[in-house]
Amino acid sequence: MIKSLREYIKEAEEKKVAIGHFNISNLEALHGIYNAAKKLNVPIIIGLSEGEEGFIGKEEAVALIHAVRERDNYPIFLNADHHYNFEKVKEALDAGYDSAIVDAVQLPFEENIILTKKCVKYAKSLNKDVLIEAELGFIGTSSKLLDKIPDGVGEETMTKVEDAVYFVKETEIDLLAPSVGNVHGMVKGGNPKLDINRIKKIKQVCDVPLVLHGGSGISDDDFREAIKAGISIIHINTEIRVAYKEALEKYLKDNPNEVAPYKILQPAVDAIEKVVEARLKLFNNL
Ligand code: 13P
Repeated sequence: MIKSLREYIKEAEEKKVAIGHFNISNLEALHGIYNAAKKLNVPIIIGLSEGEEGFIGKEEAVALIHAVRERDNYPIFLNADHHYNFEKVKEALDAGYDSAIVDAVQLPFEENIILTKKCVKYAKSLNKDVLIEAELGFIGTSSKLLDKIPDGVGEETMTKVEDAVYFVKETEIDLLAPSVGNVHGMVKGGNPKLDINRIKKIKQVCDVPLVLHGGSGISDDDFREAIKAGISIIHINTEIRVAYKEALEKYLKDNPNEVAPYKILQPAVDAIEKVVEARLKLFNNL
């Protein structure tokens, strides 16, 4: 019997490992990610941003994840990644997602609290143990290759420990995503170093599991330190997108006459599997 996502996260906290959260835009990415997870036998979370969800379809995504989970009795979960308003969070939870991230960091702090509380209250009313995560502090918005650190990201937009304590207590969220030097996307000249001390301090005073967004481009050492300091879930997206695109480009260039999608796209599945396997080994200390 598989356990609930909440229990797997608790186990990860206890074992000082992190669950990998990987975004998908299509079936190929799901296959690549799932192949890697199954090989290592670790729980995983599949994430869909509003854009990704719009492309795949909410009900289609839920049907896919549930079908795989039930067929293989495997701990694979579905998260509504960065949903920007109450309606979007509600729709995802109603469709059958296991968790949702209400992203209200662009709102004033008190408004972020009001919106997050509303989502938490709704999730609780469903009586099915779905989780609500919220973000605090700014880390940029796009999973893409970046020429430089996004505007507005810096020491001043990192999560303040006292804000985190107050926010968690007020909202009663299940998971907190802090800004600790992480950025969404991969910076061409290298991603900034994480503020490991800040992670430690936030973890010491907030009684919730912590989620590290913007995993692409972070060094292996920073990941290890971040997990030791209290991170229990890590999000990766850009690295998957890059692997997909590069494999697809190469295949099309090398095989200009091939028209069968399942042949054209197999190298992309394999490339994603390779990226995800390496990340899962690191996150799960394997
Ligand atoms: P990256 O694209 O930097 O890996 O970030 C992904 C993410 O945090 C999705 O929520």
